[in-house]
Amino acid sequence: MPKNYDVKDLKLAKAGTLKMEWAAESMPVLRSIQDKFAKAKPLKGLRVAACLHVTSETGILMQTLKAGGAEVRLTASNPLSTQDSVAAALVKNFGIAVFAINGEDNRTYYRHINQALDVRPQITMDDGADLVSTIHSKRRALLKGIIGGTEETTTGVIRLKSMARNKVLEYPIIAVNDADTKHLFDNRYGTGQSTIDGILRATNVLLAGLNFVIAGYGWCGRGLALRARGMGAKVIVTEIDPIKAIEAVMDGFEVMPMGRAAAIGDVFVTVTGNKGVIRREHFKAMKNGAIVANSGHFNVEIDIPALKALAKSKRRVRDFVDEFTLRGGKKVSLLGEGRLINLAAAEGHPAMVMDMSFANQAMSTLFLRREGKKLAKDVFPVPKKIDEAIARMKLGSMGAKIDVLTADQKKYLTEWQEGT
Ligand code: ADE
Repeated sequence: MPKNYDVKDLKLAKAGTLKMEWAAESMPVLRSIQDKFAKAKPLKGLRVAACLHVTSETGILMQTLKAGGAEVRLTASNPLSTQDSVAAALVKNFGIAVFAINGEDNRTYYRHINQALDVRPQITMDDGADLVSTIHSKRRALLKGIIGGTEETTTGVIRLKSMARNKVLEYPIIAVNDADTKHLFDNRYGTGQSTIDGILRATNVLLAGLNFVIAGYGWCGRGLALRARGMGAKVIVTEIDPIKAIEAVMDGFEVMPMGRAAAIGDVFVTVTGNKGVIRREHFKAMKNGAIVANSGHFNVEIDIPALKALAKSKRRVRDFVDEFTLRGGKKVSLLGEGRLINLAAAEGHPAMVMDMSFANQAMSTLFLRREGKKLAKDVFPVPKKIDEAIARMKLGSMGAKIDVLTADQKKYLTEWQEGT
């Protein structure tokens, strides 16, 4: 067992190990990387601090890094997403130092981040850029030892690109989120399904026939719209980007501003990566019984202080459901305190899709170890070769085969002379 850790209860370790075994069955790509790492030890001696949702899928990633020879410390990327049983299993049964307790307050959250950083990481692995921002603002002495970092999510990549633009980013970052084998599947099918899963576990509402308002038509919004429609909901999309808005219209959804959707919606979900998307004026316009949730990285997408200010009372009516009674008597329910509902009330994305996301994390860590010192202080994509190799491994694991270009076709694609 590691000397340092902070988890809820080590007695949960058995249940956590079973959860991880279940997840591993659906993560063939990551497992094959793990097997290769275990033989070649390409991460030998590498110190990694990871700030990710502490789930069974993350557990398999941590095992993989350790199999490669890395010394890993794991802390949570959200106070409500930790699966305490997995945290216990990682400590007790896999010797990995975890600092994460579900429901921890903000002070504990940042204490845990600092404890993970005490490993003096050479690589940081973020989901939302909290490690990078803590290092750059409060732990600058660590900077000299860092080779590079990876970032899992859209919101984190936005924060990091803004740091790079402002020339304050002090080490290279691989934007795992931007790999095709990540966002096209994890953000779309993962968020799509797990957000519905979280809302249903929290509320048990019947989606058929409901007006389901989705703020944001990025890959997460697209996936969520697809799945909500599949459950029979009438989907309304709100956007600020005209191109994404056309796409939503042509995908068959109603598009309108939040100012109008607020009065129509039964269920609202924010997936924009921005703040203040549902605000005071929107709460005031909502119907009695409206349900509001967020599946974006931070809970600032919903102006919760505004909701609190409008309310004369609040009560917890079910796990993950806070019912606010506004002055005038109208009730609005907020799910999971506005934290990502797919991880707060459900278990996040299924292992089948996290397989590709975390294969990207593992391979990007290896890439940074080998090439990181040559990279500038900027945000870089996952190398195309890695992205494609992961796609091929996943396809293989699914028993699907694809065609290969003939020599003539290859030539055709590289020449311009041939026309009609
Ligand atoms: N983000 C979304 N779903 C996740 C999961 N199952 N594990 C880790 N991070 C996630």
